Amino acid sequence: MSARPKVRVFDSAQELFQGAAETFCRLGREAIQKRGRFTVALSGGSTPRSLHRELVSNFRTALAWNQVCFFWGDERHVPPDFPESNYRMAQETLLSPLAIPAEHIFRMPGEIADAELAARIYQHSLQDFFRPGPGEFPRLDFILLGMGGDGHTASLFPNTPGLEERERWVVANWVEQHSTFRITFTYPVLDRGAYVMFLISGATKADMVAKALRDPAAHLPCQRVESLQGELVWYLDREAAAKLDSTAQSRG
Ligand code: 6PG
Repeated sequence: MSARPKVRVFDSAQELFQGAAETFCRLGREAIQKRGRFTVALSGGSTPRSLHRELVSNFRTALAWNQVCFFWGDERHVPPDFPESNYRMAQETLLSPLAIPAEHIFRMPGEIADAELAARIYQHSLQDFFRPGPGEFPRLDFILLGMGGDGHTASLFPNTPGLEERERWVVANWVEQHSTFRITFTYPVLDRGAYVMFLISGATKADMVAKALRDPAAHLPCQRVESLQGELVWYLDREAAAKLDSTAQSRG
């Protein structure tokens, strides 16, 4: 982590997800006004469910949702109807309730048996959509990230080959800890998001949050996300920020 990321701390989980939803929709309105679309990479795990619920419940009219294009920062190596599929979670909690047009949903093909092929196919779909110049990387308007208990983010886990990838945009990352492949964006794509939001809630994450934001020698995967062309902001509730000193954080 080069420059220290911005940190926003909210007094409660409810205020955290409301604040994250407000930022999401503000950025969406700006992107749609400028470019006619808002490109978003969703995250997996359980935390995003609360953000999705907030958006569906209280921000249905805050954004032209039919101009939002959804990608994923990572996916499990499973079909889209499996319980652990990140796509399935988003489809159930966000995309279906908001009636997002199918042509604006770009899921990672986790059902493809050859995970490397699935990664290549997804990279081709990104190339077709974003059409960056030679040697350039796609730049998404908004990338949502979480942090696992071991400091992983997306599917960049500690001691996995995906951490070192600097050319490809998407890789099939073998995660020994889970004896499975995961399909994931690599740092070159994560680092170029116009707005990269870590969204972290709850006391169980407090120790790792403090380590990630205060101990550069920890060499955690989440620490290696940096902002090359935009903003990187950690959104925390008070419980997740409990082990941070007060100078480290701005409130709300
Ligand atoms: C995944 C996610 C992963 C997640 C963290 C945090 O596919 O699981 O992309 O990186 O963000 O594991 O998960 P929780 O929000 O469930 O704590």
